[in-house]
Amino acid sequence: MSKEIIFGLIDKLCEEKNLRPEEFLVLLNSVEDNFVMDYISRKAQEVTKKYFGNKIYIRGLIEFSNFCKNNCFYCGIRKDNLNVIRYRLSEDEIFECCKKGYDLGFRTFVLQSGEDLFFDDKKLVKLISRIKKNFSDCAITLSIGEKSFDEYKKYFEAGADRFLLRHETINNLHYKKLHPDDMSLKNRIKCLYDLKKIGYQVGTGFMIGSPYQSLKNIVSDLLFIKKFRPEMIGIGPFISHKDTRFCDFKSGNLNLSLILIAILRLMLPDRLIPATTALGTIDKTGREKGILFGANVLMPNLSPVCVRKKYELYDNKICTGEEAAECIKCLKLRLKKIGREIIISRGDFKKML
Ligand code: 5AD
Ligand code: FES
Repeated sequence: MSKEIIFGLIDKLCEEKNLRPEEFLVLLNSVEDNFVMDYISRKAQEVTKKYFGNKIYIRGLIEFSNFCKNNCFYCGIRKDNLNVIRYRLSEDEIFECCKKGYDLGFRTFVLQSGEDLFFDDKKLVKLISRIKKNFSDCAITLSIGEKSFDEYKKYFEAGADRFLLRHETINNLHYKKLHPDDMSLKNRIKCLYDLKKIGYQVGTGFMIGSPYQSLKNIVSDLLFIKKFRPEMIGIGPFISHKDTRFCDFKSGNLNLSLILIAILRLMLPDRLIPATTALGTIDKTGREKGILFGANVLMPNLSPVCVRKKYELYDNKICTGEEAAECIKCLKLRLKKIGREIIISRGDFKKML
C-alpha cells in the first residue's frame, strides 16, 4: 500500500471520525512504517491540543484490595493464583491515601480492587460518602467490576462520579478464550449500559495483543467504542503474568498500542484517554509516547508502597517501589520534556462536540 493512500486514510479519519473496517485494517497493518506513525501522531496531537491544550489530567489510583472472586485467565490476581499474598486496605488506610493524594494535587481518586465481596454495599457506601464529605471538590472513580444495577445506583447516590469497566473484547468467541464459563460478555456489556443509564461517566477499553486477539477483533472493539461513546477509554498492551496459563504469550506491540490511542483520539476527539501503566511497562518511555499519540490522562499509584507489589495484574509493573510523591515529581519532569504539564483539576469529561 502506498504512503499516499495511508496518509489519505488518516486524513479521512480526521474529517469523518470513522473509517470502514477494511480501512482500519490497513492502518493497523502499517505500524512498522515510521512515516505513518509520525503522521498519525502529529494529527492526534493537533486534535488533543485543540481540546485540552498542553494539560494532562492526573488520577490517583488506590488499589484497595487484591481479593477477587473471578478467574480471568490473563490476570495475575485471579482467584486461583495461590502465589498472591492477598491484602485489603482498611477504610482508614484508604482515607489516608486520599489525604496524601489531595496534598499532592490529586482531585480524582480511582478506587480499584478485584471483585472482593468483603466490600459489600454498606462498606462501599460508607467509604464513598466519607471521601466525598471530606474532599468535596474531588471526583470518585470506581473500578470494582461487575455489579447489579441497584448496587451501581447505590454507589452513585453515595457520591461516586465515574466507573471504569473495560469490555476486554467485543467478540464473544474471543471473550470465551480469555474468561472462564461463569463470566459472560453479555453481562459485562449490560453493566456498561447500566452505568451509563445511572449517570456515571463511564470508561471502557481493552488490552492490545491479548492471547488469540486478531486485528479484526480490534476493529470490532473500535467500532463498539465508537457506538457506546464512553467518556473515558482505557487501552494498554497485554503483558503476561508468570502464574497464568498465558505465561508464555508475548506482550502487546508498542506501535500497535500507540496507533490505537491515536485512532481513538481521532474517532472521539473530546474523550479522556490515559497513557496506561502497562504502556509504561513495555517501554521505558511508553507513557510519554502514549501522550504523543493523543493520550491526555495519567493515573499514578497512591496505594501504600507496601502493597504495591501485591497488586500485580502482570509481570514487572512499574512504580511498585516508589512513593506517590516521587512518582509525581518524576512525571512532572517527564511531561516537561515533552511540553506538557499536569493540571490540578477534577478533569471531568466535558462534551465539546
Ligand atoms: N496485562 C495487561 N493488562 C491486564 N489487565 C488485567 N490483566 C492484564 C495483563 N496481564 C487489565 C484488564 C483489566 C484492567 C484492570 O487491567 O484489561 O480490565
Ligand atoms: Fe513513578 Fe516515575 S512515574 S517513578
